[in-house]
Amino acid sequence: MKKLFIKTYGCQMNVYDSARMAELLAPIGYGPTDAPEDADMIVLNTCHIREKAAEKMYSELGRMKELKDARGTTIAVAGCVAQAEGEEIIARAPQVDIVVGPQSYHRLPEMIARVARSGGHALETDFPELEKFDVLPQDTSRGSSSEFLTVQEGCDKFCTFCVVPYTRGSEFSRPVAQIESEARRLVARGACEITLLGQNVNAYRGEGPDGSAWSLARLLHRLATIDGLERLRYTTSHPRDMADDLIAAHGDLAQLMPYLHLPVQSGSDAVLDAMNRGHTADAYRRLVERIRKARPDIALSSDFIVGFPGESDKDFEATLSLVRDVGFAQSYSFKYSKRPGTPAAAARKQVSEETKAARLQVLQTLLLEQRLAFDESCKGRTMDVLFEKPGRRPGQATGRSPYQQPVHADGAQSLIGTVQRVRIDAIFPNSLKGTLVPARQEAVPL
Ligand code: 5AD
Ligand code: SF4
Repeated sequence: MKKLFIKTYGCQMNVYDSARMAELLAPIGYGPTDAPEDADMIVLNTCHIREKAAEKMYSELGRMKELKDARGTTIAVAGCVAQAEGEEIIARAPQVDIVVGPQSYHRLPEMIARVARSGGHALETDFPELEKFDVLPQDTSRGSSSEFLTVQEGCDKFCTFCVVPYTRGSEFSRPVAQIESEARRLVARGACEITLLGQNVNAYRGEGPDGSAWSLARLLHRLATIDGLERLRYTTSHPRDMADDLIAAHGDLAQLMPYLHLPVQSGSDAVLDAMNRGHTADAYRRLVERIRKARPDIALSSDFIVGFPGESDKDFEATLSLVRDVGFAQSYSFKYSKRPGTPAAAARKQVSEETKAARLQVLQTLLLEQRLAFDESCKGRTMDVLFEKPGRRPGQATGRSPYQQPVHADGAQSLIGTVQRVRIDAIFPNSLKGTLVPARQEAVPL
């Protein structure tokens, strides 16, 4: 059997795509390996969201060249850098055999054969999105207890900082029936948690079984009827698409976890406007209030960009004040990074690197304080934990709380793959420790 090494950068959608690529290449004789030096084929599934991500790929390709020279490894670049840079990649890194965009990777087997025949390069960066989901294989081997499922791709919002509308194309939603059958397959393989993915997942408008367009809320209600599917999540959402029925679903669906990633990017109206986000800071505050009313125990996470062109000290202060007002359980924050072809990259008033770094540090300090305070507030609470893998100590297992916090518990190893009640006893910087509360359900031996 030939060996396949896939390295994944960027978002969860890339994680999903990498898993599909592995499934796609299995029938033509590729099994997974964790060691690039043993691989016959290496796939770098790339991210283009910030400059550093693309640079990381090029330095990785430099290292891979030695492997190729030594053992003739086939090298493929997939994902968003492949989409954005296409032939440029082969020009800059001729050791690359295959360049394949996120909507074309179902053609990989044929591209591999073409390269093997001709010894040349193969490049596919079209957008035949319907085709991809139609031809992906339906693997039935045992999977993990928590799985991703892409329901929507692309973006029509055109935030002025973002490459996604260019790399992933315009918004496209998969039909409900196709998603439901994939979800049932994942549950049959052992998943009890599914995270629905989309660049703009809450803009989901997929064709329902009745031929009408279904909202994300309606899709969630449908999936919640699947036996054995105990947890549902969705990511990433845009505040503008938090429809009333979706907010209500947070109150109505026990399976929908009380944790929502709702990026706001900035707390300044001027910056939000320049970013083309389509809402004000106060509109976000009010939205959060409505969501909390529907589901009082919900925790929020967000993304922030500091140093967007034209961001003043006052604008940055407004971001800090929004963070203080809302309170986030978890957050991701980035220095603004100029992306070629996006409107903000051409703006005259760019913020200096020093200012960006200083603001990022201030923001991250506040966000860390909030995360630790949230974790601390969990002490003494009993919560459902989905155990996913063995912990470091014998008998111990690690899982995730409804709020995505890693939780360790002794004596839980035989409970991997199940959701159990756990009382949180201790808080560590990056995880929680808890004690199993007598059986919510019997263990299913793996
Ligand atoms: N610069 C910095 N951060 C960015 N993001 C997207 N584009 C950029 C950029 N040009 C961040 C946003 C988004 C997250 C996935 O990445 O915060 O929500
Ligand atoms: Fe990166 Fe966006 Fe592509 Fe995900 S969709 S890999 S975040 S550029």
